[in-house]
Amino acid sequence: MTATATVHDRPSATGKVVLSARGVTMRFGGLTAVNNVDMTVHEGEIVGLIGPNGAGKTTFFNCLTGLYKPTEGEVTFEGTVLPPKPTAVVKAGMARTFQNIRLFGNMTALENVMVGRYCRTSSMAITSIVRGPKYRREEADSRARGQQLLEFVGLGSMTEHLARNLPYGDQRKLEIARALATDPKLVLLDEPTAGMNPQETMATRDLIFKIRDQGLAVVVIEHDMRFIFSLCDRVLCLVRGETLIEGLPAEVQSDHRVIEAYIGTPDEDEEEAVAEAHAHDSDADKAPAHVDTKEEQA
Ligand SMILES: Nc1ncnc2c1ncn2[C@@H]1O[C@H](COP(=O)(O)OP(=O)(O)OP(=O)(O)O)[C@@H](O)[C@H]1O
Ligand SMILES: [Mg+2]
Repeated sequence: MTATATVHDRPSATGKVVLSARGVTMRFGGLTAVNNVDMTVHEGEIVGLIGPNGAGKTTFFNCLTGLYKPTEGEVTFEGTVLPPKPTAVVKAGMARTFQNIRLFGNMTALENVMVGRYCRTSSMAITSIVRGPKYRREEADSRARGQQLLEFVGLGSMTEHLARNLPYGDQRKLEIARALATDPKLVLLDEPTAGMNPQETMATRDLIFKIRDQGLAVVVIEHDMRFIFSLCDRVLCLVRGETLIEGLPAEVQSDHRVIEAYIGTPDEDEEEAVAEAHAHDSDADKAPAHVDTKEEQA
């Protein structure tokens, strides 16, 4: 399927605003990693966040999810300002995966997903020590939901495998299942296809469509442009911590500044060298390509 075909196939995002980030700035000493970035995400929308290495994408995610307290700016979720605390963010309904996978390697796939459920269970520490009926009921519910989510992401046969023994692509899917276990309204995925082959990448794209079809909003960071432009309803490009452009995939894809941000602009010396090479090429064009004149004369 071509990127353009998918763009036309996707429903337009008309839902209410789920996430609104305004003027988010993050400074580390003298370095401004994120500078005055705004982002709005609607219900059921897939938003892409792109930009070259070091552009500030992960730092922006960290500001949205309470891992960092932004130096300036505000993050509002369903109309309420979010405190910069990861637990409060997850409880509000925002979950994420990490660029550098963060799983509990010595726990099974199912246990990893069940960890994600704990923010939605009401059992207190004491009930989990006593293991009374309420605890056992919640544990059984978490297990059933965990199994369901592993099936949803395509890991239904891996429940009892230790996370660290799963292939890399499956570990990324497991992170998505764990994020979904928190019952989010919005999921943030940081490079979900990194290290995947083209088939796995396309399967991940389909999985994100399935997540969206459940009514969730998704924000996804990725360097794979084919993936991004065939998946997202809108794309925001960060460069050196600032928003370069935000728009429909087709607009962002064809913006020369985005292309330059990724591949760079040739410096003057390079431009001269390229011009010189072209001049030689056109001289060569004037003569027949492979004629040995002596032979011809002979
Ligand atoms: N905790 C930190 N302390 C100091 N500098 C940081 C910290 N986290 C990130 N940075 C810096 O902020 C800038 C943005 O980094 P970030 O990881 O957000 O980029 P990115 O867009 O996610 O890049 P990539 O595509 O490589 O993952 C970089 O210059 C990075 O070195
Ligand atoms: Mg990053």
